[in-house]
Amino acid sequence: MKYLVVGGGGREHAIAASLARDETAGLAAVMATRNPGIAPLADAVLLAPETDVPRVVRFAVESGSDLAVIGPEAPLEAGLADALAEAGIPAFGPTRAAARIETDKAWARALMTRHGIPGCPEYGIFTDPDEAVRFIRDHPGELAVKPVGLTGGKGVRITGEQVDREGACAYARELGGPVVVEERLEGEEFTLQAFVDGAHLAPMPLVQDHKRAFEGDQGPNTGGMGSYSMPDHGLPFVTEQDSEAALGIMADVVRAMTAEGAPFCGILYGQFMNTAAAGPMVIEFNARFGDPEAMNVLTLLESDLGEIAWRCVDGNVSPSAVTFEEAATVCKYLVPEGYPEAPVPSAPIRLGDPGPARLYYANVEERGGRLWTLRSRTLAFVGTGATLEEAEGAAERAASGVTGPVRYRHDIGTQALLEKRRAHMRAIR
Ligand code: AMP
Ligand code: GLY
Repeated sequence: MKYLVVGGGGREHAIAASLARDETAGLAAVMATRNPGIAPLADAVLLAPETDVPRVVRFAVESGSDLAVIGPEAPLEAGLADALAEAGIPAFGPTRAAARIETDKAWARALMTRHGIPGCPEYGIFTDPDEAVRFIRDHPGELAVKPVGLTGGKGVRITGEQVDREGACAYARELGGPVVVEERLEGEEFTLQAFVDGAHLAPMPLVQDHKRAFEGDQGPNTGGMGSYSMPDHGLPFVTEQDSEAALGIMADVVRAMTAEGAPFCGILYGQFMNTAAAGPMVIEFNARFGDPEAMNVLTLLESDLGEIAWRCVDGNVSPSAVTFEEAATVCKYLVPEGYPEAPVPSAPIRLGDPGPARLYYANVEERGGRLWTLRSRTLAFVGTGATLEEAEGAAERAASGVTGPVRYRHDIGTQALLEKRRAHMRAIR
């Protein structure tokens, strides 16, 4: 069996490492820059933009790949899954039409409305910036303003947080159209990912990501600075009822997409805000694993990822086919100094002893026997343990051993941060 892994980040290193646990499986890999963790696992590597669909399809055929696992959203939007299927290679990742659940936020919100799916905040979709501005000025509460398309998690402006009301109006004008303006949700965020075969969902452990660049959730939004998960696969500020409601919303979305002729095969990622009054509300959906969240869940996955991918493609995935180790995980991403706004590019770094933590490479190059940073997230360490404390200790010790102009958030996965999350939820509930 040969798998094609598409993408060259930490998420894709975790995907490749999971697939490679089946020693009979071969790997081919396509990525924009040579990921030093993925390349040694692959028999064939294509260095090319993952969105160059004809080139990737040619490589898939030439490398004898049987199934493609697509990591990032951009090739999904470019129709890579559709083109591979036409060439006779099934993709574990949605078609362009189904990827709209992520790539078109206006469509995703409207789908929820058309099918009466709970968890949708009040929203408006505007193609005329003047109308968006009128809505923003007239709306009594705080708002979030976002472009409808992909922004790597960095395109949102929230009133009362990053901008005032006039700033939100200016941002809506700057975006032009179409823009989504929605009610600002208050609570604690969590991620629920599920394997989906068009009809059935097999959920993964809940994860909490940390979007802000600096400790204490300060600074600009990033692709995600790190994440943690708990031994019981839940989160202390999410009740069982909340997580069932979140999974129910995702199952409703899967049903709605099939009903609209765009069945979803791949990883459905729900970003939820756990609110006081209404429980989990949808911030957005993604059509792929989260990065960093993939590193948490794939480190725990006991079942064979390749087999799960085949089950999804064949329409017979079920929760009983997907099991995870009952351990805590903490993932800490190291990023170049100045990331995300003005990252110091191309600087040498040196790894220390990672101890028991797993190392996943991301946007980093190996040159002349050394590692060099690039402009995006560099590499991540995932600690595991019977307790969150143990997992955090392992990730922290590994991360602190890296020297060079990189930084990371020391607070991710700490007891103090967890207590803050719990207290916030107690205060609002
Ligand atoms: P997105 O690109 O939609 O994932 O948004 C990035 C981040 O902005 C989210 O992780 C949230 O922290 C925040 N955000 C987005 N939409 C809302 C909302 N309606 N209310 C509050 N925060 C939001
Ligand atoms: N960690 C957020 C994302 O992958 O979109």
